[in-house]
Amino acid sequence: MGRGIGQVFAQGGYSVTQVDVNKDALALAKDSIYDSLSKLEKKGLLRETPETILKRISFSTELDSISDSDIVIEAVFERLDVKSETLRKISAVVREDALIGSNTSSISINLLSSSVRNPERFMGIHFFNPVPVMKLVELVSSENTSGDLLKKVSELLVSIGKDPVHVKDFPGFVSNRVLMPLIREAILALEESVASASDIDKTFRLGMNHPMGPLELADFIGLDVCQDIMEVLYNNYGDPRFKPPVTLRNLVNSKKLGRKSGEGFYKYGDKK
Ligand code: CAA
Repeated sequence: MGRGIGQVFAQGGYSVTQVDVNKDALALAKDSIYDSLSKLEKKGLLRETPETILKRISFSTELDSISDSDIVIEAVFERLDVKSETLRKISAVVREDALIGSNTSSISINLLSSSVRNPERFMGIHFFNPVPVMKLVELVSSENTSGDLLKKVSELLVSIGKDPVHVKDFPGFVSNRVLMPLIREAILALEESVASASDIDKTFRLGMNHPMGPLELADFIGLDVCQDIMEVLYNNYGDPRFKPPVTLRNLVNSKKLGRKSGEGFYKYGDKK
């Protein structure tokens, strides 16, 4: 997600610094951003060349490299401890007036806001995959987020071609509160042999005009990410409709994480 978020800001004319603890991940990010920009260029959707846009992005393993940034968007794993720790580290290096956003897909923004120095300048900024293609962003304020921040961030996102919605700080917001039970029910239908994986997905592609069926989509999102989101929903609402199914746990435990690992509900060859 971080790659896509950096890319869309660079496309919008902003200077971007991508930070990751892993050097190899940064090299992969650069290649993947270039590939994505090339696709968009072929379709005549870029005002500049991929090379010009890529020049606006610097890549660093050092958090100090964002010390002068106006806005920082955290996009680490969907785990409260990892996000809280990262937000604390970000807060320690950024300017007093910097805006901090979290790309969390389910964790409470009020809870995360306790990890930043200025909770009034912090909010949820949740993008969708693939970020360069999907226009939606969910914007989530905490009880402490300052009134003008929502407006400012909305305008910023519109300036880079996104179309935000404002949602309350409820676990999973709107997107994952509705999407995860669909994915979960599709997995249960598979467990109960109601239909094959490809027929379950076909039902949604051809019957409901979804671009991907729920199992393909789960593979696309990442099965570990789906499990993490379901855990957050289940722990917060206590409702079994969010409980991660055994098949999902088994796939995650055996490192079959979907497209990124080459196998999930489907096999992907070298597609990552
Ligand atoms: N950068 C630029 N362009 C891209 C791209 C990328 N990263 N990925 C895909 N595209 C473009 C392709 O070039 C292609 O363009 P044309 O149709 O003009 O040729 C178009 O998008 C469609 O791509 P493909 O032909 O490769 O494949 P596709 O038709 O299967 O579409 C898809 C791919 C856009 C991902 C589509 O299947 C889709 O919309 N799937 C659903 C995605 C979705 O629901 N995302 C949200 C997941 S939930 C989430 O992210 C949040 C969370 O908290 C879990």
